[in-house]
Amino acid sequence: MNQPLAAMKTYLAGARVLLQRGRSEEALSSFQRIDDLLDRMGVITRQLKSYARKGGEAFEAVDLRAAFSSALGMMEPQLRNRTIRLTRNVPRYPVMVYCDRIRLEQVIINLLRNAIDATKSVKEPLIEIRISAGAHAYLSVRDNGPGVSDMEKLFEPFFTTKKPGEGTGLGLAISSGIVSDFGGRLTAHNLSGDDGTGAVFEVELPLHQPGNEARKPQAAA
Ligand SMILES: Nc1ncnc2c1ncn2[C@@H]1O[C@H](COP(=O)(O)OP(=O)(O)OP(=O)(O)O)[C@@H](O)[C@H]1O
Ligand SMILES: [Mg+2]
Repeated sequence: MNQPLAAMKTYLAGARVLLQRGRSEEALSSFQRIDDLLDRMGVITRQLKSYARKGGEAFEAVDLRAAFSSALGMMEPQLRNRTIRLTRNVPRYPVMVYCDRIRLEQVIINLLRNAIDATKSVKEPLIEIRISAGAHAYLSVRDNGPGVSDMEKLFEPFFTTKKPGEGTGLGLAISSGIVSDFGGRLTAHNLSGDDGTGAVFEVELPLHQPGNEARKPQAAA
């Protein structure tokens, strides 16, 4: 289900009809569903609040390697709970981007969390992180899970294959919004054949050149 509000209206209308016909037992079960949906919306609201920034953007020069390290640090408890092999391919030199560091870390945390979830039923779970610099700055997260089941809907708000309470389907919708606010893009593809199985998510951001701040997205906001 991807529209809690619409679903709630449907259950409410159903409950009304059931009550009018004196079928109160069935009406009660509709109310229970509405109650569950309200819980779910509570989770969504909390998540949205955690993404919202109070004092507006705080753009600065950020080393992608440092943002990744601190995002990984925050995911350590979840990673320690499972025996996931984590490989990283990070250059020795800084990979500078110009953005709001906290929000960039939120994007990375989201990708890591999705990768951890995706490898839940994999025998030898593997997550591979790569950071590189070329025409742009790149950070990719690869896992050896089953891959994305629906590429078309992937970035749509409320698209989730997780059970209620385990996912709201907002992670990627918000993350891709954040990355485009930074003048970059978030893409995904599945692996197949010799490349193995799983999904790869890539964050692409403009490389930061000192002195270029005036042309960065923050100036337009
Ligand atoms: N690494 C991945 N491998 C396979 N499927 C994925 C992966 N990442 C995301 N998906 C699919 O995309 C859906 C949407 O992901 P998204 O992060 O937006 O929401 P979510 O993880 O379900 O919930 P949350 O709002 O808590 O992040 C997931 O439910 C899953 O079906
Ligand atoms: Mg997610």
